[in-house]
Amino acid sequence: MRYEATSVIGLELVPLPPLNELPAFDAGAHIDLLLPGGLTRQYSLLNDPAERQRYQIAVNKDAHSRGGSRCVHERVRVGDVLTISAPRNHFPLDESAVLQVFIAGGIGITPIMSMIARCRTLGLPWRLYYAARTREYAAFVDTLEAWAKGPEAQVQFNFDQAPGGKMLDLAAVLASVPADAHVYCCGPLPLLAAFEAATAHRPAGQVHREYFAASEAAATAGGFSVELARSGRSVQVQAGESILDCLMAIGVEPPHSCREGICGTCEVRVLEGVPDHRDMVLSAAEKARNDRLMICCSGAKSPRLVLDL
Ligand code: FES
Repeated sequence: MRYEATSVIGLELVPLPPLNELPAFDAGAHIDLLLPGGLTRQYSLLNDPAERQRYQIAVNKDAHSRGGSRCVHERVRVGDVLTISAPRNHFPLDESAVLQVFIAGGIGITPIMSMIARCRTLGLPWRLYYAARTREYAAFVDTLEAWAKGPEAQVQFNFDQAPGGKMLDLAAVLASVPADAHVYCCGPLPLLAAFEAATAHRPAGQVHREYFAASEAAATAGGFSVELARSGRSVQVQAGESILDCLMAIGVEPPHSCREGICGTCEVRVLEGVPDHRDMVLSAAEKARNDRLMICCSGAKSPRLVLDL
């Protein structure tokens, strides 16, 4: 464990012997961390994806913590044995892009650190705009300053609460980004909302974002049926319930983790019907295809959904 910035602790996770390697991961991936007390939280891997002997994560002590970040800061200690999931990635780097432009807010820098490491390995041109309250609140500044000296690299910090500081002008930043660049954003909801607005005119395939929190309420109106194609069972989803709640009530336990529509673990294929998407994982184009949904938070716009379960 390492102090990385005000309220940010970095953790290095290594495999327990006899294992000496961890599963490979791609830049932008995250893991589930099972915490003492039974909580499960998702954290992005921030180290170089070429590394197999360790995973690095960083955890911001969130003033509005529902227990996860407080637990990491106050209960987890050096040498503890923790259980984690294999890595999953809903925020991949498009390695074919001519220019990668990253926008990070606060602890949203974590997946972007691994993406930049990958860019450096491949020699891909990249730019980073990194917003934080002050330099003291920004993790990995020294590393990024060193990386900014390399060719193909450009880093701009924005410390809005530093003397003379102001909020990052995302619209101006994005207006300066070439049309064929790929743009990536991770950070707090207001930054992501500004990013969505400023990139609405860009091709969807070139715009990538990762949410740490849900910005949409779950669909809990109920009033539709769910049929499980593989088992032939069906359930009626009532008001106040998620599809996942309903399935668990009849003893079906599909994989799930965050239960907020941000981790992607509960994704299920839709064979018939129209989902009411509420997750933060699928892009607008993926949602429009209506061929999968996150059952922890999404509902139905049609009276019946048939799922590949
Ligand atoms: S459990 Fe995380 S998206 Fe549904």
